[in-house]
Order: sequence, then C-alpha cells, then structure tokens
Amino acid sequence: MRLAVPKETRAGETRVAATPESIKKFKALGLEVVVQAGAGAGARIADADYIAAGASVAPDAATTLKDADIVLKVRGPEDSEISQMKNGAVLAALLAPHAEKDAIASLASQGVIAFAMEFLPRISRAQSMDVLSSQANLAGYKAVIDAAAQFGRAMPMMMTAAGTIAPARVLVMGVGVAGLQAIATAKRLGAIVSATDVRPATKEQVESLGGTFVAVMDEEFKNAQTAGGYAKEMSSEYQAKQAALTAETIKKQDIVITTALIPGRKAPILVNEEMIKSMKRGSVIVDLAAGAGGNTPLSKPDEVVEVHGVTIMGYTNLPGRLSTDASSLYARNLFNFVSLIVDKKSGALAIDWSDEIVKGAAVTKDGAPVVRG
Ligand code: NAI
Repeated sequence: MRLAVPKETRAGETRVAATPESIKKFKALGLEVVVQAGAGAGARIADADYIAAGASVAPDAATTLKDADIVLKVRGPEDSEISQMKNGAVLAALLAPHAEKDAIASLASQGVIAFAMEFLPRISRAQSMDVLSSQANLAGYKAVIDAAAQFGRAMPMMMTAAGTIAPARVLVMGVGVAGLQAIATAKRLGAIVSATDVRPATKEQVESLGGTFVAVMDEEFKNAQTAGGYAKEMSSEYQAKQAALTAETIKKQDIVITTALIPGRKAPILVNEEMIKSMKRGSVIVDLAAGAGGNTPLSKPDEVVEVHGVTIMGYTNLPGRLSTDASSLYARNLFNFVSLIVDKKSGALAIDWSDEIVKGAAVTKDGAPVVRG
C-alpha cells in the first residue's frame, strides 16, 4: 500500500502532514511512503530527511498522488489534486467540512473516502488523534507570545532601583484547549490573568491555573454546554449581560486573547468597537477566531491592524507560526488515526465502519458525502 504526502498548496500553510518520525512508523506498518519534493520546507524538514526515514521523494503533486491508497494532508486538497486521486483512496486532513462543501462534493464524486480530522469525536480513545487539541494548544501558547512581543511593556511585575513595573493584565475569552494554554502561558510570563467562558466547567479549570474567572453565572450559563462538551449559542439576553460585564473588565486589561468558537457557525462577537475604544493605548488583542468571522468586528483575517490605539492580531493559522512543533504533533495524530484503519499484520486498509471514530470523521464514502443526523 502506498501512502502519499503532497506539498501543502494553501497560501501561508507552513505545516506538513508527515515527519521523518511518522514515516518510520508507517514503514514499520508495511506501507510504502512517497513525499512530494519540498513538502517539509515550511517545517524545516529537508527532502533528504524524508529519504533517510525511508520515503521516496516525487517531483510534483501528480506523481506523488498517482496510485496512492492513503493521502495525508494538513489542509484540504485543491481540485487539481482531487482529480489525481484514485477511486477508493483514503484522505485524512483538516477539510473544514462546514465551509468547504464543494470540495467535499468533488472528493465524493472522485470516489475518495475522506476523513475530516476536525470531526473526530472528543472521546478518550481518540485523544491521541485529536488534531484540534494538538493545534489549538500551540495556538494558545503562540497567541500570548505574539501579544507579549507586540506589547510595549513587560509582562511580569519588576521591582528595580528605578522603580516598579506593574504586571500586565491578560484576559482570555473562551477557555477551550487554546484558552487554557493561553492562561498557563500568560501566568508563566508573570501576568495577572483572568478568563471567561460560557461553559460552567471552565470556572474550576481557570482557577486551577491561577486565573480569575469572570462570567455572568445565571441559569442559562449553568446549562450552556452540549453533551459533546461544546458551547451552545447563547441567547441575545445572555450576550447583552455578558457584554456589560466584559465592558467593565476589558477597560483594565492590557492584553486580550479571544478564542471563542462555535462549531459550524460564525464566531460570536465578544469585544465590540466601544470596548476596544475603552482600552488603554498600546493594548493588544489576539483574535484566534479571526478566520471564523472574528470575536471582534475589527479583526482582519491574517492582518495585524491598529485601531483606536489598540493592536488587533488576526492570524488565522497560529499553529503554522510554530510549524515544526505543529507538524510534529499533527503527524503523530495522523499516524495514530491511520493505524486505526490499517490492518497491522497485512498492512492493508481495514476500515471498521462500526467504529465511532471512523464514523465521526468520515465526510465522504461510497461516492457520496456522508449525511449527518
Ligand atoms: P472551541 O475551540 O470550540 O471553543 C473555544 C472556547 O470558546 C470553548 O471553551 C467555548 O466554550 C468558548 N465559547 C464559545 N462561545 C463563547 C462565548 N459567547 N463567550 C465565551 N466563550 C465562548 O473549544 P475546544 O478547545 O475545541 O474545546 C471544546 C470542548 O472539547 C471542551 O469542553 C474541551 O474540554 C473538550 N475537549 C475534549 C477532549 C477529549 O478528548 N475528551 C479533548 C479536547 C477538548
């Protein structure tokens, strides 16, 4: 069986779906691995490193994809790649299935069995494959590092002979995987950290990291988590109450990291223009939801803008700004997923369609998009 790793084609995508480490493990599973020349360049992996790990290197996407049984990518393939994939090939990538419906339809009509890694169920057995967690963790870390680098002041309190520097105040909005790492990172840098979320379970998590929890804790808040552990879209009444509390809190902050996402929907606006105006000059906002509409109305995807004296960073691919670690974790996630669908003895595809991980992640099968209830 042949496993292919094409070079990423999306602008600014620096990550790669396989590393020399994961390739050695695929070889041990009995797979033949082909990597497109230059695929690892953005993550500082040379073609020679892939060859040393046992892969062959192909000059272009068409040669890489030819006869591939399994195709691994970070982001979804372009039409020109899909048309090179064979009927019955398996694809695993971040396919953004809510947004990229046309690509899913093309994959289906090509006969590709496509797995969207963001649809893996968040169950313990799938943790080692959970790309959302591995990438969001790095994004939360990098958001704080980027903010600290932009901020014209220090993060920790410093007592010097020339006087005392006050610690920075950091507010983290949305305490999922990225938010928790942002809190931990800001604490390590010595900031005073507070955080907010609509899921009640996060209160204890914030406090255990040494942060202060800030939220309107009414009846709606107590029921704001779905069975799958995700946030629900909150009522307009709740959002108004939350906005009033945020408005009071935000005036005192130096750095705000927003990470609030609702799967399949536009991100909620948490910080409006009035709030931004109320912030101190030189404050920094990092909006991790900039690619999903933004948690502020002034965020611009992939741009750093200054509005009302506040810098707003809208990087949509923060893990890609740590491409070596992001690729390494992503490649391990994919290896763990592929191990689930390959027979360890024969090295052949063995997809168990009754497995909830397989069912959860599949977006195309038998020439059609998978319909979800
Ligand atoms: P996410 O990226 O979907 O959202 C980020 C955060 O924004 C969430 O905490 C969400 O509650 C919050 N949010 C949404 N709307 C908001 C609003 N209006 N105001 C403030 N905050 C708002 O979240 P992520 O990181 O994907 O985590 C989702 C869930 O999955 C969490 O419960 C997490 O603990 C769980 N999880 C479970 C894993 C497992 O294997 N069991 C692994 C990783 C995460």
